[in-house]
Amino acid sequence: MIKGLHHVAIAVRSLEATARFYKETFGLPDPEKTEVVEEQGVKACFIDFGNTRLELLEPTREDSTVARFIARQGEGLHHICMETDDIVGELGRMVAGGIELVDKTPRHGLAGLIGFLHPRSTGGVLIEYVQVTGEGGAMAVAAEGRKIRVLIAKPGLDGHDRGAKVVARALRDAGMEVIYTGIRQSPEMIAEAALQEDVDAVGLSILSGAHMELCPKVVRLLREKGMEDVPVFAGGIIPDEDISALKEAGIRGIFGPGATTGEIIAFVRSLAAEQK
Ligand code: CO
Repeated sequence: MIKGLHHVAIAVRSLEATARFYKETFGLPDPEKTEVVEEQGVKACFIDFGNTRLELLEPTREDSTVARFIARQGEGLHHICMETDDIVGELGRMVAGGIELVDKTPRHGLAGLIGFLHPRSTGGVLIEYVQVTGEGGAMAVAAEGRKIRVLIAKPGLDGHDRGAKVVARALRDAGMEVIYTGIRQSPEMIAEAALQEDVDAVGLSILSGAHMELCPKVVRLLREKGMEDVPVFAGGIIPDEDISALKEAGIRGIFGPGATTGEIIAFVRSLAAEQK
């Protein structure tokens, strides 16, 4: 569900100069907080007034998307952001409706978990979603009761589990309880382990190319065992053209070789947050 417009963002050459302009011209307050998001090559801040909010984006590198935006068309309106309480669900609905995503899975932004839709499929407007998590909001899930429990499993025949182990370790370091099945598990073994371990999410690591067969089967078996609300995500070597079919089969998130462990942690937390 969309709760409202969260902010309107402007690409600028200087946060400081622009904030001063809005203050002197419109009497707006100083920016709330300024944050550098290194991997995006951007420095961002919010200016809150009334019940609305502006976001200013200043590039920190020549090759960042905001720098390229400014080089192309100068400073100006960059995107609008809609607030949702279910970003994972919204992105899934968009994919199912044929809308092209910039972010296949949510990532961390200034206000919480964010994801962008491609302006090519939204009438030329860059649209962002945000699910507000607040200060330490994502951590609150684990703090509120028991820790998030995740099963990391390797279905199929390939024996390379370095990636699965890296993800298991990262989730553990992020405060989750992680059960790793080891290699060469059948979908039946994975579903049974998920049931026995009472997990909140199941992550599948597949390099063998058998994802189209194995991933939907795990989802189906979980449903048969009454775990229809346990989300399944997958990582490994999965071609882009298979993504929408896997999402339709109930795989909630798909992470290619370029995905960072930070993205996967944020994603699992967002899954757990929506189950509360
Ligand atoms: Co924004």
